[in-house]
Amino acid sequence: MKQIKIVGNKLLSGEIHIGGAKNSAVALIPATLLSEEVCTINNVPNISDRDALLDILDTLNVKVEYHGTSVTIDPTKLENNTISEAQSNKLRASYYFMGVLLARFGYVEMFYPGGCNIGSRPIDLHLKGFEALGAKITHDEKNHKYIVKADKLTGARIKLNFASVGATINIMFAATLASGTTVIENAAKETEIINIADYLNKMGAKISGAGTSKITITGVTSLHSAEIDVIPDRIEAGTYIIIGSLLGKNLKVCGVNFDHITALLNKLNDMNIKYVIDNDTITISKSEDIHPINITTLVYPGFPTDLGQPMSVLLTQANGVSLFEETIWENRMGHVPHLNKMGANIELKDNTHAIIHGPTKLKGSDINATDLRGGAALVIAGLIAEGTTTINNIEYILRGYENIINKLKKVGADIKIIDNKE
Ligand code: UD1
Repeated sequence: MKQIKIVGNKLLSGEIHIGGAKNSAVALIPATLLSEEVCTINNVPNISDRDALLDILDTLNVKVEYHGTSVTIDPTKLENNTISEAQSNKLRASYYFMGVLLARFGYVEMFYPGGCNIGSRPIDLHLKGFEALGAKITHDEKNHKYIVKADKLTGARIKLNFASVGATINIMFAATLASGTTVIENAAKETEIINIADYLNKMGAKISGAGTSKITITGVTSLHSAEIDVIPDRIEAGTYIIIGSLLGKNLKVCGVNFDHITALLNKLNDMNIKYVIDNDTITISKSEDIHPINITTLVYPGFPTDLGQPMSVLLTQANGVSLFEETIWENRMGHVPHLNKMGANIELKDNTHAIIHGPTKLKGSDINATDLRGGAALVIAGLIAEGTTTINNIEYILRGYENIINKLKKVGADIKIIDNKE
């Protein structure tokens, strides 16, 4: 069992470079299976979710080659083999193989997807979308799987009753090779969706409206080779910007698309946090007078749910009382008891509302990551705490933060991974 060990309260300076977006990469990789030719994805983040997807590609007889952060995927010998329950369970994004395999073979059997325990995480909207396109779905509860079958997929008008990121992308995948036109209404508008639609269009798909709440997909009969760059990870960028506002000494976070993090920058302004943006780089230093604020997570372009937990640590250092409300997931406060153990003063009203009393000094403790972004929040807490923090269950963190230890070490953090058998 590995742990992250941090000796806190060190100022950080130098440069941190942002990698490709996890939530784009985990959809772009399955998207290549819609093509009948070799495809390339550049700027793929080195995270364990990537490895879990590439392992699934191996099961499907798809060849993968690495060239640095570029991945070449050869789906010419694609086989509709069963993805095991363990493979599906490793990550939530395994659900994207439903859309692509359904489109390619008209049949897919999939075990329930896994992922962090931040809520009940149903996939009913994905399934309703497939049904609207003409698929028949059998839910085999005993064996934890869905069997999705379609002699033919036909374009349809699909109105999502929630703007789900995963459902929007999965329906887009299935509709790409359907006959006729599909319109997704109340589609999710997250920036990753534009990245994925761009890739499909480069492969020959006909998709318009990605990034708006109405996406139109006119089906084509086949897709071909294409190359795409994964967009910068806005959540990784946001996490390091938050770290910079707590511990930076002219810390530079480089390779950021600032159009994608407007909601975070607006909140930093409200908190009286100063920074300088120059092209794709932000320079940020430890803030002395952080104002308390209220945060409500929302779908894009609102404040991202994936930055709510890291932000809650910043609020423990604000001068006054802040409110933090999570509206997307029902169980995203798992990190709070651990922050309180470290000395924070956070009252949980329920699983979605927290009142954060600041400022509080944090002290090093032995704590457990409960999910990916909650784990990142604990890393931030360890970095600002006095003394030594050890974080358990670090697999959650490594799922989505590329080289987090080395990136932080390089700018002066005292952080390492240890094997607790040591
Ligand atoms: C994606 C991101 C995740 C982020 C989330 C919201 C990936 C791999 N993960 O997750 O990091 O936190 O968007 O920005 O891209 N829902 C349903 N039925 C469904 C699908 C979703 O009720 O069929 C509900 C969920 O329970 C949740 C909400 O919709 O309450 C948001 O889910 P969704 O946008 O689908 O998130 P994901 O795509 O799973």
